[in-house]
Amino acid sequence: MLSKDFLWGGATAANQYEGGYNEGGRGLATSDTKTNGSLTRKRKHSFSNENNEIIYLNEKDFISYQYKAVIDEKMYYPSHKAVDFYHHYKEDIALMAEMGFKCFRMSISWTRIFPHGNDETPNEEGLKFYEDVFDECLKYGIEPVVTINHFDMPLYLAEHKDGWLSRDTITYFINYCETLFNRYMGKVKYWMTFNEINLLRGYTTLGIKEMTPQKYYQAMHHIFVASALAVQLGHQIDSNNHIGMMLAHILTYPESCNPLDIALELKASRALKYFFSDVQCRGYYPSYVLQQLKHKNIEIIKEENDDEILKNGCVDYIGFSYYNSGVITTREDATQSLGNGISLTHNPYLQESEWKWPIDPIGLRISLNLLWDRYQKPLFIVENGLGAVDEISEDGKIHDDYRISYLKDHIIEMKKAVEEDGVDLIGYTPWGCIDLVSAGTGEMKKRYGFVYVDMDDEGHGSLKRYRKDSFYWYQKVIQSNGEDL
Ligand code: BG6
Repeated sequence: MLSKDFLWGGATAANQYEGGYNEGGRGLATSDTKTNGSLTRKRKHSFSNENNEIIYLNEKDFISYQYKAVIDEKMYYPSHKAVDFYHHYKEDIALMAEMGFKCFRMSISWTRIFPHGNDETPNEEGLKFYEDVFDECLKYGIEPVVTINHFDMPLYLAEHKDGWLSRDTITYFINYCETLFNRYMGKVKYWMTFNEINLLRGYTTLGIKEMTPQKYYQAMHHIFVASALAVQLGHQIDSNNHIGMMLAHILTYPESCNPLDIALELKASRALKYFFSDVQCRGYYPSYVLQQLKHKNIEIIKEENDDEILKNGCVDYIGFSYYNSGVITTREDATQSLGNGISLTHNPYLQESEWKWPIDPIGLRISLNLLWDRYQKPLFIVENGLGAVDEISEDGKIHDDYRISYLKDHIIEMKKAVEEDGVDLIGYTPWGCIDLVSAGTGEMKKRYGFVYVDMDDEGHGSLKRYRKDSFYWYQKVIQSNGEDL
């Protein structure tokens, strides 16, 4: 049986869910200059170039220092309205309460609190908004679980301070954390510092232009230090705070028992995920990374007590996302290259979603065991789910049996990890519990929720909320503490 305090709930993020981008004194974030897209059409950032023309660049394109991030009035930017939690929070939290949520994972928009990221004083209207949200949750006995930074950063810091490349950003971030910890003391005790820390790469999350490997590792060092300082500060301010990391648990399998495949999978596991969790859970850089940096001639500039900060700022728990698994191959005809000689191929044993994500419930049990064996820290599945197209049927309902089946299979494996393998698991918050904008593609069509939101890829729709079949199913799951699936 799962413990009686098991945190069943759902998860969201401000830039995909909240909207109200220019209301209540909020400043612009990097995510506000990112357009919508689709499976075949990538999301892009809009910049004005040296000739003052508006150009659109992919996350991985080279962005010159001369380009300035701009908003093009002719384009649709999903973060601006998202699904308008900003004006619907009471209704949405009531729906969560109706499902029986014990917790609600959400993120705070840094620029709603500090419009430029480094302002002298915080924006009271922004602080009050989240306070009202937390009070609304607590009214129903729903525990807020807060991600401090989920896939965006203040546009001002990206444009004027080099984002996370600048050491000053640590100071600004810690000031932001201190404001949150003080203001929400007694209301929030579960925090996560950076969402999917192993996936922070381009302009949106790091705020860096003219990216190089050297800059990437330097910026990540600043993020590790910022997170470790936040953990220490959070504990000092309130010893009841639990401060976790958030890892995208990209589970990989070797394609065969050929030792070359096994060795490559080990390399991939370290590069794609364990480097990040090793630093945040153990408090130091693993030797395999130090050696690699040496070979690549990358030197991270550290301040004298950085190693001490990392050591004293280990996280309390590991929040992680799990959606699918991948197969690592040494074959030349691999389907996708991830760079550094790491390539992926198709898994013939698994079905795929419409967005080509393999569906692998057993992989969740494996992931839980891998993380538990490696760190022995409490685990929290803070994202999982199926992105699918939902239709309102003639009877006015949304019959999402495919989503129920995906979640049910994953919960079965999650329970085995707890009940048969003895993993310490705090809770489970499926992603996008109320439909929201996809981070990867920027579309609404890829829905994850138990609640349907009437909104299309171009931002048209009434924003009306509808309970899907999975809503009633999840209500029953929570009520039975995972026994009635
Ligand atoms: C995770 C992110 O990577 O996956 C979320 O933390 C994201 O922000 C989720 O939405 C699902 O990905 P997508 O691309 O389907 O939205």
